[in-house]
Parts: sequence; structure tokens; C-alpha cells
Amino acid sequence: MIRLNKFISECGAASRRKADELIEAGRVTVNGKTVTNLGIKIIEDKDTVSIDGEPLRIERKVYYLLNKPRNVITSTSDEKGRKTVVDLINTNSKIFPVGRLDYNTTGLLLLTNDGEFTNFLLHPKNKIQRVYSVLLDKPLDIKDKQKLLRGIILDKKKSKFQSVNVIDNKTFKRVKVITVEGRNHFVKNMFGILGYRVKKLERIKFGPFNIEGLKRGSYIKLSKDEIHKLLKI
Ligand code: URA
Repeated sequence: MIRLNKFISECGAASRRKADELIEAGRVTVNGKTVTNLGIKIIEDKDTVSIDGEPLRIERKVYYLLNKPRNVITSTSDEKGRKTVVDLINTNSKIFPVGRLDYNTTGLLLLTNDGEFTNFLLHPKNKIQRVYSVLLDKPLDIKDKQKLLRGIILDKKKSKFQSVNVIDNKTFKRVKVITVEGRNHFVKNMFGILGYRVKKLERIKFGPFNIEGLKRGSYIKLSKDEIHKLLKI
């Protein structure tokens, strides 16, 4: 829920003060009904706000943080009819995922309709960190850990993790890795080259965002202010 005048100004249609004047003058409708109450709140993704009968066209930027479950495709649609990450979010905004997680990967995925924000997070020059929790099919050998840190050749390019930490000292199969790479299947391929199979993969952090406290399959909506604060922009 957001105050109507704030919504109008965030759409770039008028300043908040000017929006109040428009509301008082009876020029604003919500879902076709004229509203003159200045304190009114609307549901930003659902209600249609018009000024002088013209629906506000500028789409407000929305941001969602999803804890992706397994067996959901990171796409806006799927020709095979599989469930997509967009299907999990209740919104009328045309959102898309920021990067991708594999079908069977779980964890943190951002969805938005903000292209600039997406480009910023995905551009390699910005070196946004991704933190993954990995379950391997066999214990991680210390020599392989060093190789992953020093760098190995993947797709003809020297590739490495920024950090690799075994997080259980019984089986040595649970590993936390940090990378700034966004290439598809990067984590699985890095371990794959050294003869390991990734049995489970979960992204727990992406830049300043983390999955803590968010149940698998659920999501939260972030405000633009929160996004700016988190990214310190
Ligand atoms: N690396 C992978 O191999 N898969 C993912 O889903 C994300 C990173």
C-alpha cells in the first residue's frame, strides 16, 4: 500500500504537492472512481490510477526477493509449460529475473522491471558477489580447493572462486563458495572440471541481499528506497 500522492510522484506524473492539488480538484481516479481524499492509499501493483482519464503509463519500478524452490524455471515463460519464477509472484508488473538460477538450484533470486538496476547487478565490471552453499558428491580435496582459488580454465577463460570454505568437518562435502561470476552453470562447471558433481546448490547471498529468514518459495517486496540504501547509490 502506498499513498496516492506518493504513487503519482513516483510515476513522474507530478510532484507530491501538485498530486494533492490534482486529487482535490477531482481530476484523479482510482479504478475509474474519482477520489478526493488526500490520505487515500492504493495497492501499487493492482490499482489503476488515472489523471484526467489517462491511466498513468510510466510503470513504477518494483523489486522482489524470492527464495527460489527447486523445479521452477528462471524465465518469464516456458514453452514446455513448466512453472516459472514469475508465476510465484503476485503482481501485475512485467517483472523479469535478475540473472538465472538452474532449474534445480534454490535460493536468492531478484525479480524486477528495472532494467538499469538489472544491468548494474549483472555487469561483470561491477563484480557483484554471489555466495553459494554447495553439496558435493564426495569430500573436497584440499589440493582441489587450492586449484579453485588459484584459477582453472573454464570455457577457455581463467576462472576462480574468491573463497572456498568447507562448512562441515565430518563429510567435507558441504562447501561455501564466493564468486563474482554470473556465467551460466558456473559453480557446477567449476567443480565438474575437477571431477565433482554438485548434488545441491543454493544461493544465499547476491550483493547486499541475503536469503536469511525467507522460507523456500516465499518472497518479499523491496521498496526503491531500500534498494538504493542497500546499493548505496
Ligand atoms: N552456478 C550454477 O552452476 N548454477 C546456478 O544455478 C547458479 C550458479
